[in-house]
Amino acid sequence: MQIAFFDAKDYDLPAFVEYGREYGIGFKFYETKLTADTARLAKGYDGVCIFVNDRADAEVIDRLYEYGVKIIALRCAGYNNVDLKYCFGKIHVVRVPAYSPYAVAEHTMALLLTSVRRIHKAYNRTKDFNFSLKGLTGFDLHGKTVGVIGTGKIGKIFIDICRGFGMKVLAYDKFPAAEGVDYVPLEELLAQSDVISLHCPLTQETYHMIGKEAIAKLKRGAILLNTSRGALIDAEALLEGIKQRKVGAACLDVYEEESDVFFRDFSGHIIEDDTLARLISMPNVIVTSHQAFLTEEALRGIAETTCKNLATFFDGDICENELCYNCGNVENCMKKRKERCF
Ligand code: NAI
Repeated sequence: MQIAFFDAKDYDLPAFVEYGREYGIGFKFYETKLTADTARLAKGYDGVCIFVNDRADAEVIDRLYEYGVKIIALRCAGYNNVDLKYCFGKIHVVRVPAYSPYAVAEHTMALLLTSVRRIHKAYNRTKDFNFSLKGLTGFDLHGKTVGVIGTGKIGKIFIDICRGFGMKVLAYDKFPAAEGVDYVPLEELLAQSDVISLHCPLTQETYHMIGKEAIAKLKRGAILLNTSRGALIDAEALLEGIKQRKVGAACLDVYEEESDVFFRDFSGHIIEDDTLARLISMPNVIVTSHQAFLTEEALRGIAETTCKNLATFFDGDICENELCYNCGNVENCMKKRKERCF
């Protein structure tokens, strides 16, 4: 099994090489992202392995199919960058549904604490031997209300962490399933929360769920946390909300247009994205570049599950992590009939 691995970073290599050896999979690591222009690099490979900012739209899928690629292995949980419907019947898609959800939930809390206790400012100050406390006043999280949107694997862990801090938790989920959680309608969550954290997937329905209207409903000074997917928030509306002092702070590990900039070093260059530049310039905005997943444990988990997914597929077995647009559709779901998706 030979797999073309796109958007490879130094930190991906050790675990993928190790597990690849264990599962009999050879990887060709490409630094470039998968796009219609780079798809030809997959010629002669059995599959491709891609990450969050690679694109597998209809044009790319057509090319991969033409080159004989049989499988797209996502080394992430989200799959909004793959046209699953278009893949159906042509190329199988597998993903890593969970890899240390603790990594993402803990990073979310790290961002929140950094913001409310001004750690980012204090760090820079003391590096410069400036020991003044001016402007560093924060507030206690204890007793504050956090609204968690999406109570799946990551959302549930984040709720536990917040409870450890003595916060009151409200939650909203389209499919509320967590036990012991106080679910409320989205509007109520927006209006009552001091802190709002997004942990739902990006779908047509959730696209820009935090836009102009939602921001208008927020408590004045609310803090927004997004470690899920950038386009859950309308970045322009967020910027406006910050300028109007409606949004008290924003901590973003993801950004709508991140694929053009994240994971690359632009220091010394002029950033073209005015919205991102303006957001970063705000004293109450913290941006990390999609690093919430980046722990040793998560990297090993991602590599192991991806290699297992590929080995299961090439062995001809049903892969429980296969995605297809029929999944969950009881009538047509082949997996439920113990068969492959197509
Ligand atoms: P999950 O699938 O376990 O949970 C997602 C939850 O969102 C589910 O409870 C689901 O019912 C809910 N949901 C679905 N549609 C909704 C809607 N319209 N409104 C409200 N809730 C809705 O997913 P998990 O593992 O907790 O991951 C959450 C998100 O975190 C992923 O979709 C992914 O985009 C993001 N993520 C980000 C990472 C990073 O490094 N920043 C790493 C891993 C995941």
